[in-house]
Amino acid sequence: MTTVRDIRERAHLETEPVTMLTAYDATTASVLEEVGIDMILVGDSAGDTALGYDSTLPVTYDEIRSRSAAVARAADDALVVADMPFLSVGVDESESIRNCGRLLKEAGVDAVKIESGDHTVELTERLVELGIPVMAHVGLTPQRVKELGYEKQGTGEGDAERILDLAVRHEAAGAFSIVLEHVPAELAAEITAELDIPTIGIGAGPDCDGQVLVVDDVLGLSERSPPFARRFASLREEMRDAAAAYREAVESGSFPDDGADSDGTEAG
Ligand code: KIV
Repeated sequence: MTTVRDIRERAHLETEPVTMLTAYDATTASVLEEVGIDMILVGDSAGDTALGYDSTLPVTYDEIRSRSAAVARAADDALVVADMPFLSVGVDESESIRNCGRLLKEAGVDAVKIESGDHTVELTERLVELGIPVMAHVGLTPQRVKELGYEKQGTGEGDAERILDLAVRHEAAGAFSIVLEHVPAELAAEITAELDIPTIGIGAGPDCDGQVLVVDDVLGLSERSPPFARRFASLREEMRDAAAAYREAVESGSFPDDGADSDGTEAG
């Protein structure tokens, strides 16, 4: 079982970087578990992928809670982190704390991730005091798509300083690690050197302590991927071919076979 302390201790180590991928269901989580991925993020990127919304904004607390519970049931070793969806934190302190705590208590996750801003520093401190581990997230924060779009962040000097300062304040508040999304590699390297907690990069260059990607992009399921993602397989094409082959087999009458089960062996 991977703990928050295990992850925290992986900052600045000469050993392998921390690996993190998203998952939104038990099947995917069990595969990530089999190959030894360190952390599984039940990201609100479920909005752009599994849930079919056109951004992360419509994702609800109940959608994340249900998917987090499915992932947590399938993951014994990996650290499971639930992403707090838009407006589930930040409006009211006690509601924010309760929403985060219920994901540990009812869904069985190990930590929560919160898209960071000035308003999440005190909240992070309070959550950590209560025993709710927090992963911070700076740079491109997709819940601010209406304000920022999906552009790379931290390209200007003032903006880079603001992001570094936010990262430092969240570390001081007790965050156990921090996602750096779509920022220049030099800024990510500077933040990584400045902090004692591990930085987990996505579109932030090679110098972070770990890397995270959306699993649909890695598996080649997404129709569109961000420029920094890499496809490691072409599952969309494989799924389409399998579904088309099934349709053809049923329509042509070649499936099911009389007396044969689905893998072609004779039924007993
Ligand atoms: O929701 C998500 O998948 C994320 C990662 C991209 C870091 O926040």
